[in-house]
Amino acid sequence: MDIWSYFYLISIINLVCSQDIYQSKFSLSIPGTLYEPANNDAQYIISVFVSSFMQCAIQCNWNSKCRVFDYGAMQSNECRLFEGDIGVLGSIGMSLVPDSKGGLVQLDPFLFTQYGQACSSACVESRYLQCNNDSVCDCMPHTYWDTFWKMCLPQMTVAGAWCQSGVNMCREDLNLTCSAINKCEGIVPASATYGVNIADQSTIIEGDSTNGFDNPGGIVIYGESGDESLIVADSAKQQIVLLKNISSNQAKASVLIHNGTDGTYLFYPSYLYLDTDHQYDLYITDSGNNRILLLSSMQITHPLPTNVAGTFGAGGLSTSTLSAPNGVTLDNQKNILIADTYGHRIMLWSPSATTGTIIIGTGDPGTGSTELSYPMGVFFDKQQSTLYVADSGNNRIQLLNMTAAASDVGITVAGGNGAGSASNQLNQPSGVWVSPTTGAIYISDTGNNRIQRWNFNAAEGTTVAGDPNGGSGSTASRLSSPTGFTINSNETYLYVSDTGNKRIQRFALT
Ligand SMILES: *[C@@H]1O[C@H](CO)[C@@H](O)[C@H](O)[C@H]1NC(C)=O
Ligand SMILES: *[C@@H]1O[C@H](CO)[C@@H](O)[C@H](O)[C@H]1NC(C)=O
Ligand SMILES: *[C@@H]1O[C@H](CO)[C@@H](O)[C@H](O)[C@H]1NC(C)=O
Ligand SMILES: *[C@@H]1O[C@H](CO)[C@@H](O)[C@H](O)[C@H]1NC(C)=O
Ligand SMILES: *[C@@H]1O[C@H](CO)[C@@H](O)[C@H](O)[C@H]1NC(C)=O
Ligand SMILES: *[C@@H]1O[C@H](CO)[C@@H](O)[C@H](O)[C@H]1NC(C)=O
Repeated sequence: MDIWSYFYLISIINLVCSQDIYQSKFSLSIPGTLYEPANNDAQYIISVFVSSFMQCAIQCNWNSKCRVFDYGAMQSNECRLFEGDIGVLGSIGMSLVPDSKGGLVQLDPFLFTQYGQACSSACVESRYLQCNNDSVCDCMPHTYWDTFWKMCLPQMTVAGAWCQSGVNMCREDLNLTCSAINKCEGIVPASATYGVNIADQSTIIEGDSTNGFDNPGGIVIYGESGDESLIVADSAKQQIVLLKNISSNQAKASVLIHNGTDGTYLFYPSYLYLDTDHQYDLYITDSGNNRILLLSSMQITHPLPTNVAGTFGAGGLSTSTLSAPNGVTLDNQKNILIADTYGHRIMLWSPSATTGTIIIGTGDPGTGSTELSYPMGVFFDKQQSTLYVADSGNNRIQLLNMTAAASDVGITVAGGNGAGSASNQLNQPSGVWVSPTTGAIYISDTGNNRIQRWNFNAAEGTTVAGDPNGGSGSTASRLSSPTGFTINSNETYLYVSDTGNKRIQRFALT
């Protein structure tokens, strides 16, 4: 059943008071629905108990902050009022109560015609405008003036929402500001001094008689319900390990798959990609076997992994072979993008294709913009359709525009100033991750034993974990040849495969 078509077609009620400007017009949702705000803490106004749905609509009309309400969804007769909308700031969801439903205030430019006028003659009695400075009619708190719609619309309450700079679209009281890439961003994380040990050489691993990590590399987050789980590739032990519920006393490590499981060979498994949009499909770079393996729906069953790119065992530079591949990711069409490290190229394999195509690279290492040298980690930006490549041999991060005709020309967005530990340099970077809200590029700067962050368009980076001067070490504030890393969705935690120290560290980024 399509809730949205119903949402607009169902009845419309009008609450008409003595003047037009008091009027609210609502769209109603179908029965069995409730409102799901994007940020409940920021958008919930109040609950009142009233005798009917109509009374609830009247409550919303009376409360000048109210833009959405629902009735009877949580408790009988409960009328919940919210700020927000049903676009980016929330949605109508299914409720367990058959006759609960919600309503949305329908805004119209006609309600805002007094915007910008002198208060004395206008908005003092408006439900939709307030008098600022006793002089000019302005938007209500938590709303901003939208010059296109000519209305005061609700400000964004979640990090990552689109915004236009200079337009006051982000809720500043929630510490959200519009970033350089037009996303409401939260507080930019500071550097983290001390890492917390999540797993190391002594971790007991179910299904592994020798226990402990030996050469942790690729790492992805699996599940984020406040108690994250991780998947880590251990290339020296030829296995993939699941670290479940790492924050709680339910923490448990177990082997997900190892060389020989169900007859599947793994030889130097290095990088991982988890397709969280599709039933947790896990892509494993089986580097020593020159191929990419797909472990479908890894959280439900253990079907035999399938070879989805490269030719098992046969390394090479043809379009059907890979040569010690590493970084792996998917684009928006689920094509597999692979850093073919010893082929010095990026390959694209369409789903179920038997050969790949070369995106960039000649087969030989090179320093030009159409060349790479030992590419390692890759990151696909789904919104921009761009690919970031840790071009390790060139000590730089290259950006490829995958929608441009010339996607084989890279632009250097970090490093490229020779190997070194100065703030504008990198040394054999092996991993890259880009913030969807700030556009900041995080880099595992392996040769410098540190994790760097280059803010959007910055000419230099800052160290978020490890020694800014590049020193290695095994204390909580140091790293040794870190490789794989990942960051949780609200960018509060950085998880690092501290490879040289044979451990997984967590750094708090705020
Ligand atoms: C208050 O009024 C002054 C001019 O009287 C104006 O410059 C300023 O922008 C106003 N502030 C707000 C928040 O409207
Ligand atoms: C915003 O940041 C300030 C200063 O860091 C802090 O005191 C305040 O609690 C933050 N507000 C929210 C809603 O996070
Ligand atoms: C443990 O982790 C799984 C997967 O991340 C999650 O679904 C589950 O809720 C977690 N358990 C607890 C107690 O947090
Ligand atoms: C960020 O997400 C983690 C779980 O992934 C959660 O424990 C934490 O409370 C969240 N922090 C904020 C500020 O939302
Ligand atoms: C993987 O397992 C196979 C079969 O048991 C074995 O022949 C091979 O040596 C193993 N590979 C590694 C890298 O341990
Ligand atoms: C990528 O190229 C396309 C087509 O030339 C262009 O429209 C788009 O703006 C480019 N994207 C970036 C992020 O530069």
